[in-house]
Formats: sequence, structure tokens, C-alpha cells
Amino acid sequence: MANLKKALSENVEGNFFVDTSCINCGVSRHYAPEIFGDSGTHAFVKKQPQNAKDEFAAKQALLACPTASIGVREKKDLTSARNSFPMQMAKDVYINGFNHRNSYGAHSYFIKSHSGNWLIDSPRFISALVKSFEEMGGIQYIFLTHRDDVCDARRYAQYFGAKRIIHKRDSDVQKDAEVILEDEEAHRIELGEIHFTPGHTRGHLVLLWDAKYLFTGDHFAWISNLNRFGSFRNACWYSWERQIESVQKMEVFQEVEWIFPGHGKWGRIDTGQFPEIIKKSVQWMLSVQ
Ligand SMILES: [Fe+2]
Repeated sequence: MANLKKALSENVEGNFFVDTSCINCGVSRHYAPEIFGDSGTHAFVKKQPQNAKDEFAAKQALLACPTASIGVREKKDLTSARNSFPMQMAKDVYINGFNHRNSYGAHSYFIKSHSGNWLIDSPRFISALVKSFEEMGGIQYIFLTHRDDVCDARRYAQYFGAKRIIHKRDSDVQKDAEVILEDEEAHRIELGEIHFTPGHTRGHLVLLWDAKYLFTGDHFAWISNLNRFGSFRNACWYSWERQIESVQKMEVFQEVEWIFPGHGKWGRIDTGQFPEIIKKSVQWMLSVQ
């Protein structure tokens, strides 16, 4: 629970506040950009909600916040916001909310598929989500983009009898994963195409679902403060050169319409524009060597 005694001085007056435990992961701004600002070191309330839409978004941010740094001075009913997760983002694709502090607040997603549902990286293991996943038909695969965002994947795998997929080079954090990919080739599992994209970590993977939905982990995202797609130069743990190569490789994904990252904001793309976005992103990445 957020602590009012530790509320940040930058918060504007009103019911919602952010306290000093904020790690500035950006999640609050992804859900409620009208309400939460960025001081450079933490999020703060820049404007109190003035309408039902913003109030709902602020409540979603409160629930998604991985460090429970968002609070309210007067108690709010969070039921509808809680029940909004997993929230549909595109056909068959949902965002889970309830981001985990162990992944520095990375987003996780759920794909509903007639041949078995997928969890993409891991949210907190909480009963509200477990119940929703059960109602949606359970989980068959847990796709782990990379070593940083595994969080409660083991618990979900055990509960649902799901198969975790991870690359061998990142698998020391999930040695008992059911599917450990060892090569650098693309793999197809049902509608999912798994591509090896080292750079952020040695064994990073992305998932291209149904040619249109790209789950990028920490490989590639919309970077709000730069106002562009790209990769995080300051959060590249293995090799920036390899990461550039791995971004370049995605130029062949002609039909991508959505990018769903771990960190950074999700984003929609005009049909056919993705190769051009990749070209420009690579140019920028080369310029910040
Ligand atoms: Fe990461």
C-alpha cells in the first residue's frame, strides 16, 4: 500500500498520490498518461482525474503499479478496474496488469487461442488473474522473452500445467522450463513464430503471433521520452551491436500491426509501415553507439 506520509511533494492536490517508493518504471504513464507525469526519477500525479475515463485509467495504474506506489487519500472502489484485467488490446490479445516488481514492472500479456492460450512473460500470481485465466480456458504455453521477466512463471506453469518456453542462453533463471530452445533458428508453434533476438540479453526471444502481433520483451518498444520506436541503450545488458542486428532482422515482418513490449509503451502501427519503422530505428540505434 502506498504511504501518504511518504507522498511526493510534486503530486498535485487531490485524492490520488504517488509515494517515494516509485521506481519510475513508466507503467502508471502507460495506463493513465493524462494523470501521471515523469519527474525524471519517479512518477507523480500531474493532474487529478476530472472524468470517469481518467479515473478508471488511474485506478488501473494503481493496480498495475509493481511497487504499490500509487495511493488514494479517500478509499475508492477498485472492483471494476480489477475486473478489467486481463484487458483486451487487440483480437485475442490481452494485457494482464498487476506488473511484478521483480521484472522492474514489465508488462505481461495473454493470447487466447483455440489451440491453447499463451501467457507472455509473467504478471504477479494473484487470485483475480488466475480466476480470469481459468475462465478463459487456462494457459498452455508461457513464453518467456528473456531472463529478466520470468517472475511468477513457475507458479503459473505449475498451476495450469503450462509449458514454459525460454532460450537456453537465458535459461539459468528457469532451469526446469519445459521447452528450452538451443539454436538460433526461428521456431513455429501453432500461430506463434519465435525469433532469436540477442542483444538486451544473450538469449532474448520475440514472439510474432499471427504475423500481426509482435511481443518484443525488452528488445524493442515505443520509447515515450524519445517519441520513437527503438531499444533502450541504457538497458542493454549483453551487446548493443547484437541488438542492432536483431532489430534489423525484424525488417522482414511486413504485416506487424501491434507491438507489445515488456518495458516501454505498447503501440499500433499502420499496416505495411513496420519495415520502414525498423529501418529508421536501426539508423537511430547506429547513431547512439
Ligand atoms: Fe530485461
